[in-house]
Amino acid sequence: MHIDSPQYGTIRQFQRSDIERVLEIAGHSLTEYYTSSLIFDLFDSWPDGFSVYSVGGDIVAFMIGARNTPNEARILMFAVDEPFRRQGIGERLMRDFVEYCSRNGFISLKLEVKTDNESAINFYKKFGFVITSRLRAYYSDASDAFTMWKII
Ligand code: ACO
Repeated sequence: MHIDSPQYGTIRQFQRSDIERVLEIAGHSLTEYYTSSLIFDLFDSWPDGFSVYSVGGDIVAFMIGARNTPNEARILMFAVDEPFRRQGIGERLMRDFVEYCSRNGFISLKLEVKTDNESAINFYKKFGFVITSRLRAYYSDASDAFTMWKII
């Protein structure tokens, strides 16, 4: 079934009962360690910024945004479970988030990504993000981040 088929999957807002699956995908896909209390804090501070993508009732991807300033949103955590990558699910989540931000008065988006994460950097470039700076020893393993930024 194709990603564009309505039967394939749906985007919806995170619910507290999704936490285990979100932590599982984060644990497999992201290199930093995240706790449920941090995830709940992020959700409580901006529920509309936290989306999940589910296929057949199972969550396979999520994106957590935050309000950086009144005009700028930030993508804090974003991952698609490995077997579901390269099917357009990341694109669906990104387009949905950009549309929401655009409708709600944000003018730019910002994020940090590991400098060696070529697939994510390519993904973000496809959506018009540009690298604006390098942050030395940004991650807990002392690796560097690129800051990426986009006008919406
Ligand atoms: N290599 C090169 N380009 C890629 C790749 C890749 N591995 N993956 C995606 N792209 C680009 C392509 O242009 C692709 O279009 P195409 O398939 O028609 O060529 C386009 O992005 C859209 O791809 P999607 O299928 O929508 O992307 P996907 O659903 O796989 O999600 C994501 C992309 C979220 C980066 C996924 O690879 C992932 O979960 N990676 C591991 C976790 C991660 O690195 N998250 C980002 C960390 S930074 C942060 O959280 C702020």
